[in-house]
Amino acid sequence: MLSANMVELAYLLAAVLIIFALKGLASPESARRGNAFGMFGLGLAALVTLQMDSVQNYAWIVAAITVGGLFGGVAARKVPMTHMPQTVAFMHSLVGLAAVLIAVSAFLDPVAYGIANAEGGLYMASRVELFLGTFIGAITFTASLVAFGKLHGVLSGQPLVFSGQHMLNLVLGVLMIAAGVVFCVTGEALPFMVMLVIAMVLGVTLIVPIGGADMPVIVSMLNSYSGWAAAGIGFTLGNNMLIVAGALVGSSGAILSYIMCKAMNRSLFNVLLGGFGGEAATGASAGAIGQRPVHAGAAEDAAFLIRNARSVVIVPGYGLAVARAQHALKELVDKLLAMDVQVKFAIHPVAGRMPGHMNVLLAEADVPYDIVYEMDEINPEFGDTDVALVIGANDVINPAAKSDPASPIYGMPILDVIKAEHVVVIKRSLSPGYAGLDNDLFYMDKTMMLFDDAKKACESMLHTLD
Ligand code: TAP
Repeated sequence: MLSANMVELAYLLAAVLIIFALKGLASPESARRGNAFGMFGLGLAALVTLQMDSVQNYAWIVAAITVGGLFGGVAARKVPMTHMPQTVAFMHSLVGLAAVLIAVSAFLDPVAYGIANAEGGLYMASRVELFLGTFIGAITFTASLVAFGKLHGVLSGQPLVFSGQHMLNLVLGVLMIAAGVVFCVTGEALPFMVMLVIAMVLGVTLIVPIGGADMPVIVSMLNSYSGWAAAGIGFTLGNNMLIVAGALVGSSGAILSYIMCKAMNRSLFNVLLGGFGGEAATGASAGAIGQRPVHAGAAEDAAFLIRNARSVVIVPGYGLAVARAQHALKELVDKLLAMDVQVKFAIHPVAGRMPGHMNVLLAEADVPYDIVYEMDEINPEFGDTDVALVIGANDVINPAAKSDPASPIYGMPILDVIKAEHVVVIKRSLSPGYAGLDNDLFYMDKTMMLFDDAKKACESMLHTLD
């Protein structure tokens, strides 16, 4: 068995590895390396913890690791890229549930956890830690399950809004804190259970008014909550590793939520209050969607345009992921590059359904990183672009975000596709994107709509260029 100092040293090393992991995950080039650092760091922390003499029953631990490992391994192989957001939401719910279960077991047997005074009651500080870990864990658990349901289509993605909703949440929040305070003062079971049940209900009532379009922000926020819940439980267990790892997850999740809100030009408060994405469109983008004439073209027409262009900027969106068109697109790009057409990719920070969604897809298809540009880098170039080729994207190129103050997405930064000489949009119909809004770009003279599945359209264009 390692000495206490050696354990802390190993934990410190693991914490440093997790920091390297977060750093690596910040860019597609270093993400794999970052992942390896993270796996190694967490593996080290788990091994060091397992050899402690406070671990007495290995049978349960081995059984849990086997079941969890099998489930995780199969899920990682089977879950398609498009289902990644709901998978992440589901994982967060498990972290929340784990925090609740540990808190309940520590409450039931404080002596075993070394958090009991001479009379067998809970220390005051431990009560506060249990209160924090339990309610954050419980909210994370049920809120993540609702987020999973909405993202997976088991529950409606529409915001569920009713009058008095914010008041209800406020009352529940106050009651939960009051029960928690009573628990901290008395250490009794009843206020603990009341606090736990209210937190679980609050997790549901807080998320139901939030629309599908905002779910990725919520998932990132729940990621942050799950980190704080783990850190809270780390205090209860007196485990520095859990405190550090939880705090790192908590703060990185919070920063990511902030970055996403900034990319949508909305405050976190606005997202949390919900109701976005379900309202009817107003202003220029109002009216029956798809009722105006468009210039529709065939894959051959689109192929002709891009083959004769000097520069093509490709804008991928959620539809690319749905169609799993990334490999066909990569072949098309290779062909264009071989024909001396300059090709670049333009990535909007919230394109798709999760942060970095498009980068992951393009990396999967081996698209070179040096032709993939972030929004701020590429926007000034659209004025000099011959063809903007939009594949399964909608909201992130919607000009209403700049021109229509009545639009719900007004103020959201967009890719300036409208400035390109020609625009080709590949999607299956004129249906709106996640925000539920019509898109004036589709009806412009310079725009050609290619109504097809993204993968089929890329393959047809490729075929024409052969
Ligand atoms: P969307 O606006 O959702 O548009 C995607 C388009 O893809 C749809 O209009 C759909 O049209 C098309 N499509 C679907 N399946 C297709 C297929 N098989 N082949 C071709 N096209 C297909 O996507 P976006 O432009 O990527 O914007 C992302 C949205 O998510 C924004 O509203 C953003 O605010 C929101 N959001 C994202 C995040 C993150 S982190 N990514 C966070 C919060 C909110 P058809 O049905 O006509 O084909």
